[in-house]
Amino acid sequence: MPPAISARGLRRTYGDVVAVDSLDLEVDAGEVYGFLGPNGAGKSTAVRMLCTLATMTAGTASVAGYDVVAQGDLVRLSIGVALQDAALDGKLTGRETLTLQGRYYGLAKPAINRRIDELAPLLEMGAIDRRVSTYSGGMKRRLDLAAALMHNPEVLFLDEPTTGLDPISRATVWEQIRRLNRELGMTIFLTTQYLEEADALTHRVGILNEGRLVAEGTPDELKRTVGSDVVVARVAGDPDTARQAVETVAGITSTEVYGNEVSAATGDGASVVSPVAVALAAAGVEVIELSIHPTTLDDVFLELTGARIEVEE
Ligand SMILES: Nc1ncnc2c1ncn2[C@@H]1O[C@H](COP(=O)(O)OP(=O)(O)OP(=O)(O)O)[C@@H](O)[C@H]1O
Ligand SMILES: [Mg+2]
Repeated sequence: MPPAISARGLRRTYGDVVAVDSLDLEVDAGEVYGFLGPNGAGKSTAVRMLCTLATMTAGTASVAGYDVVAQGDLVRLSIGVALQDAALDGKLTGRETLTLQGRYYGLAKPAINRRIDELAPLLEMGAIDRRVSTYSGGMKRRLDLAAALMHNPEVLFLDEPTTGLDPISRATVWEQIRRLNRELGMTIFLTTQYLEEADALTHRVGILNEGRLVAEGTPDELKRTVGSDVVVARVAGDPDTARQAVETVAGITSTEVYGNEVSAATGDGASVVSPVAVALAAAGVEVIELSIHPTTLDDVFLELTGARIEVEE
């Protein structure tokens, strides 16, 4: 099976700005791939090139086995796209929007109605027959996602599908993404600025910074490259006694003392936390609080780029 998405040396410049630089990508059929990066990293530009909506300055790409430049029409028939700025016609109702989209893809009336019923859970009850101009931002995003799904695409591109959504809408979208992938085997390429989103939804993540892919792997692999979870014990007694006790635990790679806290780095916080508690009790140290701080994708990004991914909520 050819990869669902493949790109070699993909590049796009706008004047002096290099939006996407030398991007190599390979996404397998059936994979949920996350493109993670801060504002201006080049995520949308890369998506637009892969979806035939922007021309590339250099490089080659194929989607669903078709060349993005030479076979653009076939690419467009194989993909669904929900862009960051959904361009919807406010004068239409949700149902009319979806019907138009279905016609665009050549679906017959019964098929269109069936699809609308299937996609209805994405929308709020009653909203489907209202004009889009009365929708909230989150409802528009979800309608746009439903429109992208009308023709059951092989590959789905979602550019920041949950930015600006409230927690309930976000959960609905997450559930749909999981279901589409699990039940239909749909390949999904999504961009996000949310680390938990990449962690929760994707099989593999590419971290994009200033137009370049700076790391790629499963969320767990990426977290392992920066190493460690940290277990922190806040103690009532002498922290140095506590530190010596913690150091006897197998799997602890280093320890530090800050005030009345001992922090211990480890590859797997969850598996050392009970032995740490036992060691502290055996040394007669009274523990006020014992906590695990797992490595996050934000730590990975910080290590790679020296900056944190900023998210405006
Ligand atoms: N049409 C355009 N004209 C000029 N510059 C552009 C254009 N589109 C994007 N850029 C520039 O390319 C760079 C990458 O932008 P892009 O929108 O791809 O980033 P992004 O990762 O999607 O950011 P965000 O998280 O804010 O959506 C930015 O410096 C942006 O200003
Ligand atoms: Mg963008």
